[in-house]
Parts: sequence; structure tokens; C-alpha cells
Amino acid sequence: MKISIIGGGYVGTVTGVCLAELGNDVTIVEIDRKKIDSINSKIPPLFEPGLKELLEKNGHRVDATDDINTAIETTDVTFICVGTPSREDGSIDLAYIEKAAASIGKALEKKAQYHLVVVKSTVIPGTCDSVIAPLIAEYSKKQAGVDFSVCSNPEFLREGRAVYDFFHPDRIILGSEDPQCIQVLQGLYTQFSCPVFKCSLKTAEMIKYVSNSFLAVKISFANEIGNLSKALGIDSYKVFEGAGMDSRIGPLFFNAGLGFGGSCFPKDVAALQRLGESKGLKMMLLDAALKINRGQHKTVITLLERYIPIKGKKIGILGLAFKPDTDDIREAKSIDLVSSLLSHGAKIVAYDPMAMDQFRKIFPEINCASSSRDLVRDSDAVVIVTEWKEFEDLDYSGKIVVDGRRILKARDTASVYEGVCW
Ligand code: UDX
Repeated sequence: MKISIIGGGYVGTVTGVCLAELGNDVTIVEIDRKKIDSINSKIPPLFEPGLKELLEKNGHRVDATDDINTAIETTDVTFICVGTPSREDGSIDLAYIEKAAASIGKALEKKAQYHLVVVKSTVIPGTCDSVIAPLIAEYSKKQAGVDFSVCSNPEFLREGRAVYDFFHPDRIILGSEDPQCIQVLQGLYTQFSCPVFKCSLKTAEMIKYVSNSFLAVKISFANEIGNLSKALGIDSYKVFEGAGMDSRIGPLFFNAGLGFGGSCFPKDVAALQRLGESKGLKMMLLDAALKINRGQHKTVITLLERYIPIKGKKIGILGLAFKPDTDDIREAKSIDLVSSLLSHGAKIVAYDPMAMDQFRKIFPEINCASSSRDLVRDSDAVVIVTEWKEFEDLDYSGKIVVDGRRILKARDTASVYEGVCW
């Protein structure tokens, strides 16, 4: 099919290039000239393992433009992949969504053929029905369900594994009341063997929030139990390995440690909380999950103070990105931790294989080491904040190590090794 993608970020670029790999012609619509030029030079505008190779292989089927009118005119299906960040109070900010819907509407006014709009962005239940479809209808002066349709096809891509996750979904969610939509969408995913779950539009929107919120709650549960396990001298990983053998529980996403960061979990949980409150419901469990997560970095302070007075000491921060294999530091635990250590009078030296440039935008005064080895050498104590593979083989001899992400090999050489939840 001929597909247009609105938004060339993590989701849009990965989705576009992978759909090209499946044989579709893809046009990515972006406002950022640098991203447009990068994609058209067959260089991905962001790092994701496997993306570069796929873009080089399918470059003849992928182009980027800022001209949404031509993109809509020349394609049959449009995926909305723009961001839905948090507002001050945590509620969802639909500004980019509204702008995309209006632009699509204006472009559709001139188009005769039926057009399918697929919402991949994470939007709170009801957004497609009450915001996106009406805006497209208003600007196109056309009728939803007749001249165009809006459906929901949420993504479950993890940063650092997005290409893999695109081709290996546990299920495909298709949300629409319009059989024509479902039929077109199924045509896109014929090569997938996983279950295709069809449901109403707002059910599909809700499934995405429930998935992310449950994973966030599961991590905060792991951390609450992890903190108690630590106090009892129990290794929480062993606890969850055993508990996870119950098929109703499962072993995954019980990695207790510094908690979750990233551009999705914090924002999606907060958006669902605000939505619940707007309906007069107190979302107590989601509230607790965020509170536990916000306080988890304090376990590092407590453990460090067991061995050294933090004030004036040089603390090495190993890992800045919110997870390995990405340069993304959005909501990364390194941010809360460095802020807290600075307020305790520590001197900071930081290192990350990919995220130091991003980190410097927030902490321009922080000294960054040129290698993880130099950081360990120059620090009085080392905190492992992101589990980059290269941190496993470092020599921590003579150092105090507080490990927030279970790099157990550090225990072999560190003079003092403390895991936050083990
Ligand atoms: C997440 C969801 O996994 C994905 O399905 C959704 O589409 C987008 O949000 P992402 O945020 O990219 O993906 O990364 P993920 O691997 O889920 O990790 C998120 C955060 O949780 C990271 O900071 C990670 O360190 C933390 N985490 C993850 C834990 O602390 N414990 C775990 O067991 C798993």
C-alpha cells in the first residue's frame, strides 16, 4: 500500500521503515528539516538497532517531506505517530494530535478517494471519536465513516528494541467500528502470525494505557518488595524468579532497581490518573506506583551514606540514558539521582556510551568522563544507573559500588558492593 506517516520520531520512523520492509511505499511527514534530509539521505534521524540497515535496504520505498497535502493525496492510509506529552498537571497534551488531524482534514478536502487514518499515537480513550474524527470532518468538510475513517492501532515498541518489537508483537490491536477499516488494516499485517485482536476504537485506546500502566505498576511493586527484601537481606530477584513461576504472575518486568524512566510509562500513568479523576475516580494504585517510582533513587543516597559522607566526595554515575541501547534521557533516573547528590554536596562525574550530549543539556556543569574506566578510576564511589553491557567488565577494585541495575559482576572486584534491592 501507499502509506503516509505523520511524525518522524521513534514511533513514526520505525513504523514507516518497517512497513516499507513489508513492501509498502512510505512517505514520512515531518516539520523538522534536519530529520527530512536525514531520512532522504537514508540515514535514520535516531538510533535504534537494525533501523539503519532497514532504511538502507528499503530506501527506494521511503521518503520524507514537509508537504502533508501531497503526502495525503498520494497515499491510501495515514498513520498518526505524533507525540502526546504530559501537561503541567500530568494530563495528556493533545496539541500535536489536533494539529495533525486539522492538517489531514485540510489535505483531505481536495481528495476524492476514501482515506483511512490510523492513530498509532498513545491517546486517552475517546480521543479518536471525540477529537480526531470531528477535526478531520470539520477541516475536510467530509463525513467520518463515509469519505474517511479513523481507527486505532496502538504500538508496543520498546526503545532500543523497537525494530525487533515491530516484527515480533505479542498481538496486533485493531480498534474500529468500521469493517472497511479493519479489512484494510488486516491487509497491512498479513505477514504476522500473532493474534489480531479486533475491538472498538476506545477499547483499543484503553488497552494501550492498561498495558503501560500495568507494566509500571508491576515495576513499582517489584521495587516496593525489593526495598523490603533488601532490608531483610533477601535477594528480590530470587524472590521474583520463584514467584514468577506462577503462570498467573510471570517472571518478566520484575527487575527491581532504580525504577522506570522513559517517555512512556511516567506520562501514560499520569494521563490515565488525570482521566480517572476527571470522571470522579481516585486512581489510588496508579498514584502509589508513581510515588514509589519517584522516591526509588533515594535508596542510593541511603546506601552511600552507610560508607561515606557524600558531601565533597566524587560520585561516579555510570549510565545516564533511561535504559541501555538508547541516547534518550527523558525521565531517566540519572536526573533525579544527580540532582539529589548535588543537593547533598557531592561532586559528580558522569559517563554514558551514548547519552552524555543529551545529559549536558540538563546539567551543563557536570563533568563527563571520557570512558567508564576513567570514571571508576577517578571516583570515590560509583553508582550503576543504567545497565549498559560494558559496565559488566569494569575493574571496580578498591571502590564502593552502589548498583541500581543488577550488574552482579561488579561484586567480584568492588571493595564494597551494595545492590539497591538485592
Ligand atoms: C515501554 C513499554 O515497554 C513499551 O511496550 C511501550 O510501547 C513504550 O514504553 P520503553 O519505555 O521504551 O517501553 O522501555 P522499557 O524497556 O519498557 O523500560 C521502561 C523503563 O522501565 C526503563 O527505565 C527500565 O529501566 C525500567 N524497567 C523495565 C524496570 O525498572 N524494571 C523492569 O523490570 C523493566
